[in-house]
Amino acid sequence: MRRLAILGHGNIAATLVDVLGRDGRARFEAVSVLARPGAIDRARESLAGKASVLADEVTFYDTLEGLLTERPCLAVECATHSVVRDTVPAVLRAGCETVIVSIGAFADPEVADAVEDAAASGQTRAVLVPGAIGGVDALAAAKLAGIETVVYTGRKPPAAWRGTPAENALDLDQVAEPIVFFEGTARRAASDFPKNANVAATLALAGPGFDATRVRLVADPTIGANVHEYEVRSASVNFSIRLEGKASPDNPKTSVSTVYSVAREVLNRIVPIAI
Ligand SMILES: NC(=O)c1ccc[n+]([C@@H]2O[C@H](COP(=O)([O-])OP(=O)(O)OC[C@H]3O[C@@H](n4cnc5c(N)ncnc54)[C@H](O)[C@@H]3O)[C@@H](O)[C@H]2O)c1
Repeated sequence: MRRLAILGHGNIAATLVDVLGRDGRARFEAVSVLARPGAIDRARESLAGKASVLADEVTFYDTLEGLLTERPCLAVECATHSVVRDTVPAVLRAGCETVIVSIGAFADPEVADAVEDAAASGQTRAVLVPGAIGGVDALAAAKLAGIETVVYTGRKPPAAWRGTPAENALDLDQVAEPIVFFEGTARRAASDFPKNANVAATLALAGPGFDATRVRLVADPTIGANVHEYEVRSASVNFSIRLEGKASPDNPKTSVSTVYSVAREVLNRIVPIAI
């Protein structure tokens, strides 16, 4: 029987537990949750009730050592980039397959190497979810044939870029038409816009890497939601894709499709036919 660990207890974790509970196919022998140190009561408050649908036994820890006594066989990281760096390698070394959503963490090559080494040493694997985007299967397959270009354009309403370096490039209150305020590599996009690094990092990892993946970021007053567009040219297929995310009800900065992408990864480890 499966033992699930959830690393993190924020918006994605809570919505994931709801989605899995509603779906009904996921039942676990035990569910354990890793809370931020000092935040165990808050984690219990937001997840204990919902998670009881998934398992009779739901336990909360704020240390990794505690969590690992549960001997989970599947972990879902939905916390922060620092949890990928500081916590996920030990979970993998313990032999626990880990689904990762904070993919921007992989922009740091040391994190990527540490995760890879840990998965090999634990004889398991880290699974990076498509998250807010789709088509990652087609991109990763095209990479085997040879990628020519990947160009990603991330559009958000001007207000959604507040608190980022976009504020240094333009007056977000005065944007009357779509303005490209950043053009560069996925590596620079991930370091300059860490809160928006996940999609660029996912495309870079599935595709031609952080230095060859081109990124454009746009403040767009004509849209009401986050829009991800990307164009791939390769030796096997050319394609372009546009995804218009619907905001998560509890956190408008997260596209709710990310949660469904994580739920799919979990369910694909449970159902007899994975798709
Ligand atoms: N791949 C994608 O497309 C994609 C899309 C959206 C968000 N994300 C990423 O998913 C992650 C979670 O997003 P969210 O909206 O749920 O964020 P959130 O801020 O709502 O939740 C993050 C949670 O992690 C917890 N946390 C922090 N440090 C921790 C620690 N050391 N141990 C355990 N828990 C800890 C926080 O207390 C918080 O509850 C973020 O890293 C975000 O960048 C990825």
